[in-house]
Amino acid sequence: MGRKGNRRKFFKQSLKSSLWLAAGTTAVSSCKATPNIQAQYPMVISTWDNAKANEAAWKALSDGTALDAVEAGARVPEADPKDMSVGYGGRPDRDGHVTLDACVMDHLGNYGAVTYLKNIMHPVSVARRVMEETPHVMLSGEGALQFAVDQGFKSQNLLTEEAKKEWEEWKVTSKYEPKINIELHDTIGIMAIDHDQNISGACTTSGLGYKMAGRVGDSPVVGAGLFVDNEVGAATATGMGELVLKTLGSFLIVELMRQGATVSEACEEAVMRIINKQDYKKLQVGFIAIDKQGQIGAYSIQPGFVYTVTTVSGTELVKVNSYIKSE
Ligand code: GLY
Repeated sequence: MGRKGNRRKFFKQSLKSSLWLAAGTTAVSSCKATPNIQAQYPMVISTWDNAKANEAAWKALSDGTALDAVEAGARVPEADPKDMSVGYGGRPDRDGHVTLDACVMDHLGNYGAVTYLKNIMHPVSVARRVMEETPHVMLSGEGALQFAVDQGFKSQNLLTEEAKKEWEEWKVTSKYEPKINIELHDTIGIMAIDHDQNISGACTTSGLGYKMAGRVGDSPVVGAGLFVDNEVGAATATGMGELVLKTLGSFLIVELMRQGATVSEACEEAVMRIINKQDYKKLQVGFIAIDKQGQIGAYSIQPGFVYTVTTVSGTELVKVNSYIKSE
């Protein structure tokens, strides 16, 4: 057995015991994403039903890099006022401010992020500028806004009438209760493998609706909301950011794959780390991941999570297996 075979055997033994321990009295079924689309590249994959984002990314892949593709894809929901979890039209915090988190990571291990950014429709593009134009990897709040404006991004109000109306209704009770699978379009995490087999990823969100002022979630944090290692693969997360931040699921998934786990096994284990240690019962977290060859894996805590994958064979929406089963 070669080095990879040994690592895989070792990983399988340790994973088996950890899943068994984690499962307690609840049976854990195998984690299998089963798209008709087979492992291949070029490929674009995104969390939730984001076919339009994938289309834009796919178009960008025809003469661009994976980084160009994920930026183009992420910009679609960012500009969509109907998507109330991302960018323009996103749900505000408790004080009525829309604040955005985003990051990008490329095949060279470069990373850029913005957190708590107000008034800029395309935080993913600002994150790319942070990566390419500054000596830093993350800018936050006022500094991020100033940088964006200096870079030529337009400052504008991102609170739509619809989001404002919902927020005003929410204020009547001010009950803070994160919703699972918000209208099937929570945070978008998007990853692409280009013609040169290079991988990049992006993640962008308005975060939890009615969060406290200053709250930052997992999406802009490398290793939490997104991680890319061009030798191995990439992973991204959606759902309750606090749970992802406590377990660094995207980094974990890529590292487990490096040790020999399949993409699906790695995603399942990342969910199980949350199940083991956190109060997860009313919360959702979902992961999607790819390896260098374009194998796909995904797993979530709650049923209802889906992802969108695009290759030369077309675009497909795939239902994800979950720890908690549907009724
Ligand atoms: N996953 C997005 C957030 O919690 O902000």
